[in-house]
Amino acid sequence: MPDGSGIMSEESNEGEADVELEARLAEQEAFEPPESFVEQANVTDEGIYEEFEENWPECWEQAADLLSWEEEYDAVLNDEDAPFYEWFTDGKLNASSNCLDRHVENGAKNRAAIKWEGEMGETRTYTYGELLNEVEAFAAGLRDIGVEEDDVVTLYLPMIPELPIAMLACARIGAPHSVVFAGFSADALAMRMNAADSEYLITCDGYYRRGDALNHKEKADKGLRSVDQDVTSVVVDRLGEELTHFLGNDARDYDELVAEHEGASVEPVTRDAEDMLFLMYTSGTTGEPKGVKHTTGGYLAYTAWTSQAVLDLVPEDTYWCSADIGWITGHSYIVYGPLALGTTTVMYEGTPDYPERDRLWEIIEKNRVDVFYTAPTAIRAFMKWGSDYPEQHDLSSLRLLGTVGEPINPRAWKWYYKHIGDEECPIVDTWWQTETGGMMITTLPAINTMKPGSAGPPLPGVSATVVDAAGEEIEAGEAGYVTVDKPWPGMLRTLYENDDRFIEEYWTEYSDEAADEWVYFPEDGAKIDDDGYITILGRVDDVINVSGHRLGTMEIESAIVGVSGVAEAAVVGGDHDVKGEAVYAYVILEDGQEPTDDMRDRIVAAVEDAIGPIARPEEVLFTPELPKTRSGKIMRRLLEDIASGNELGDTSTLRNPEIVEEIADQIDSE
Ligand code: WT7
Repeated sequence: MPDGSGIMSEESNEGEADVELEARLAEQEAFEPPESFVEQANVTDEGIYEEFEENWPECWEQAADLLSWEEEYDAVLNDEDAPFYEWFTDGKLNASSNCLDRHVENGAKNRAAIKWEGEMGETRTYTYGELLNEVEAFAAGLRDIGVEEDDVVTLYLPMIPELPIAMLACARIGAPHSVVFAGFSADALAMRMNAADSEYLITCDGYYRRGDALNHKEKADKGLRSVDQDVTSVVVDRLGEELTHFLGNDARDYDELVAEHEGASVEPVTRDAEDMLFLMYTSGTTGEPKGVKHTTGGYLAYTAWTSQAVLDLVPEDTYWCSADIGWITGHSYIVYGPLALGTTTVMYEGTPDYPERDRLWEIIEKNRVDVFYTAPTAIRAFMKWGSDYPEQHDLSSLRLLGTVGEPINPRAWKWYYKHIGDEECPIVDTWWQTETGGMMITTLPAINTMKPGSAGPPLPGVSATVVDAAGEEIEAGEAGYVTVDKPWPGMLRTLYENDDRFIEEYWTEYSDEAADEWVYFPEDGAKIDDDGYITILGRVDDVINVSGHRLGTMEIESAIVGVSGVAEAAVVGGDHDVKGEAVYAYVILEDGQEPTDDMRDRIVAAVEDAIGPIARPEEVLFTPELPKTRSGKIMRRLLEDIASGNELGDTSTLRNPEIVEEIADQIDSE
């Protein structure tokens, strides 16, 4: 998702119109789906909830029916080895042929598949026919460099068309991809390549960010020096003359490789429904990212079905999700879901405020975008910039708006509804995770009343509930935890080569193993109301959500304690008005070390080296001690309150209550 960095010091730019909006909309807590939307929507029968419940799990055949299968599956669900569930068992299909070949064969050869907007103003359009050609050529190229079925190929690419092309080329030959977000550091790349034993890397020379050419290849090369296995790379020339296109040992030029195989016809490899489609590393409580494994049949069926039911996509739509493909949102809802349905998907390379703060609205107007999906952090930034920017553009092509990644505050929701949707577009606030593969809790846009700030009921067929610590369903209004007590087709199947951690992370808290009752625990807090609407309160593990990006506090802490002179560190999330949460690092130095600017710089640099600029601490606070309980546990909750500027509760149970004032004073004085 576009982050809000670089705009933090701006004064709010709210005009009179916003004041009026406040007055009119502030009180309104429920919104009905607009009539004009309902008339044309894909899913309009509210009986779908009951139908799915009564007919579970066979209801998911509806999702499977959106795909073309080479061989029919035998069973919708196999739960014999729960929680290692299997979906659409023994079904055979290929994801790339579902996203490309069948549309080309069905007369959509000349429909735009991808419309790409470069940050500097260039554009590229790939029709379904052209996309298929390039995917086949690159698939042949991948085979040429040695990639075989089931080899994990790492894609370390920014938002350029070669990224989805490479994903689909991998899918075509049955090689799982592992996309590493381009903003991640060299070390983060190396860690992911090592964890997946990946011997192939597709990367590029560089890309533009706010007009500057960034050297990406240098970062990739640095990462490769820490990879244990031999790696063959392919390098895309994104910047031409701007940056020397240095290949190095063993690297191939993408354009040359594709040119050599132009016109190649590469039969899509027949994959089992349960064969791995991709791996995606995501942060958890421990310092080591988790390799979330998604499979071919269930994942593709689920992303296609949710794209149709929730985003309301039809093939004729021009649809835009402003996420980065380096995250799950981009995988599911820029690439696989929309392309499986034969929709035109828009991709934007750059930031929302380059060259001006109306860039996104300009892209929507120019492409006549029908459906737009973005993150609360971006919406809060747009709000801050003011409604003048969207008002300069004709946004009347929009039919539906979506949000994802973190809780959306009602004020931002209403701003989005009024200033982007002109009160004519339903908003879907979609709760889900890397692990769930696709949306889980959201309203269906033509059916349910919308309640700003609340994601809504679970989707039909999704058995999510809110429970207390003992696993009992809680009363409306109380706070508890989200759990899911039935499997769903898009779910992760395991953590890569780590079944034990898979069970431990997701299936231990609330399951009853002896009774073979398995309950998935997403590690989110939530409330539920009398209508069964779920309001997500945020993570309950040591994961923080910065601008919709999931970061592990342990990963950041271990980078900080690696700096010489640092004795101990505690990292927490503090409230931030645009980013949602920001990283606050409390640092204890070794005796004799001074809390200098240089020390602070080295700490920030260490975090950027280990993870990337997205994890950069908002503040580094030096303290002689951390607030600890008498049993020696760090009081993280208190550190969060200090960072958020909240009222501090009772500190009398601390071993060292005096330290709290000392740290809080330091924040106030900065
Ligand atoms: C975490 C998952 C889903 C793709 C992007 C993030 C938070 C996600 C919402 C929402 C409130 C949300 C949760 C979740 N989250 N969507 N609509 N409302 N919170 O994927 O990196 O795996 O992060 O994002 O805390 O657990 P992710």
